[in-house]
Amino acid sequence: MARTFYTSKGTSVEVGRELGKGGEGSVFDVLNRGNQVAKLYHKAPAPKKQSKLSFMASNAGAQLLEYVAWPQETLHLSRGGPVVGFLMPKVSGKDPVHMVYSPAHRRQDYPRAAWDFLLYVARNIAASFETLHAHGHIVGDVNQNSFMVGRDSKVILIDSDSFQVNARGTIHYCEVGVSHFTPPELQSLSPFDGFTRTANHDNFGLALLIFHILFGGRHPYSGVPLRNGVGDALEADIKNFRYAYARDNQSRGFSPPPRSIPVSILPDTIESMFHLAFTERGTSGDRPTAQQWLSSLDNLRSRLTKCTTSGMHLYPNHLGSCPWCALEKQGVAYFIDLGTSFSQTASGFVLAQVWAVIQTVP
Ligand SMILES: Nc1ncnc2c1ncn2[C@@H]1O[C@H](COP(=O)(O)OP(=O)(O)O)[C@@H](O)[C@H]1O
Ligand SMILES: [Mg+2]
Repeated sequence: MARTFYTSKGTSVEVGRELGKGGEGSVFDVLNRGNQVAKLYHKAPAPKKQSKLSFMASNAGAQLLEYVAWPQETLHLSRGGPVVGFLMPKVSGKDPVHMVYSPAHRRQDYPRAAWDFLLYVARNIAASFETLHAHGHIVGDVNQNSFMVGRDSKVILIDSDSFQVNARGTIHYCEVGVSHFTPPELQSLSPFDGFTRTANHDNFGLALLIFHILFGGRHPYSGVPLRNGVGDALEADIKNFRYAYARDNQSRGFSPPPRSIPVSILPDTIESMFHLAFTERGTSGDRPTAQQWLSSLDNLRSRLTKCTTSGMHLYPNHLGSCPWCALEKQGVAYFIDLGTSFSQTASGFVLAQVWAVIQTVP
């Protein structure tokens, strides 16, 4: 593979070590540009993908770059030749969001992160959607690998070249999608090419990510099946609105998994937002927006209380007793108190206490 490429301005850049490989391309370090990486496609991009990347690179504003590894310059094998890749900001010291919401990984890698940290991550993810939507763009392929989370709770999206991009009225489509993040109304749609997605479609994926983060990685359409045909395939359960935590979940065919975080941990306003996002009404454009999630989650953050049993047990103050203690009585420990002496001796964990960055939206 060639190691020298040219930006659209004609500057030469040398690529170094491969940092990651995806379905469409690989990402490399760039020599002498420590804060940038190069994504190079496995196959020459079609002309319409080239125009999408050129538009993105010439519209890399500061607000987008706060949340997104957005293309900054296109890359070419020869000066003025076709686009073969692009430069974008390097994302380092961050993990995909599933490493944060999976209880096992969180306990291992973020042992001091309690539910308040998870709320920060959720609201910062909502802020990232809010910024993109305000610019007329849609994530499209929402999934657990594209949202990179730092120890300070800051969120950066990668894989931005797959977004649906609005180039001053010309839509560049998002041609991919992960089925377990796809809204019910799009479950039968494949391929996605030529289909214009809306913010309401994204708002399904946003609600799903927030649900995963707040409920220990659980999928809202997964639970204990109450009749035949339910729980056989996640795609069919999503398509048929089998939201396991719904108030009317018995008629939908699921009850929540045993010993899981109960939906009653949330105040009614937020529980209703999930209901709207995951049931029939949401398909007609009514799903809570990123802006609504942002303000509701910020409101919830200001209503947390701490249990006297453990400094790691933070929960909303509408509850009369600690839900984490209740789960521990059932044998499930979500947040383990490591004690203060641990943070004094293990310097790596002290870092984890500087989290909680509020990312601003335009
Ligand atoms: N901006 C970035 N900084 C550092 N590593 C990145 C960046 N973008 C992507 N990567 C790495 O490269 C991998 C593939 O990138 P991605 O854009 O998801 O590829 P694809 O679209 O081909 O599937 C990612 O999983 C990640 O490990
Ligand atoms: Mg991609």
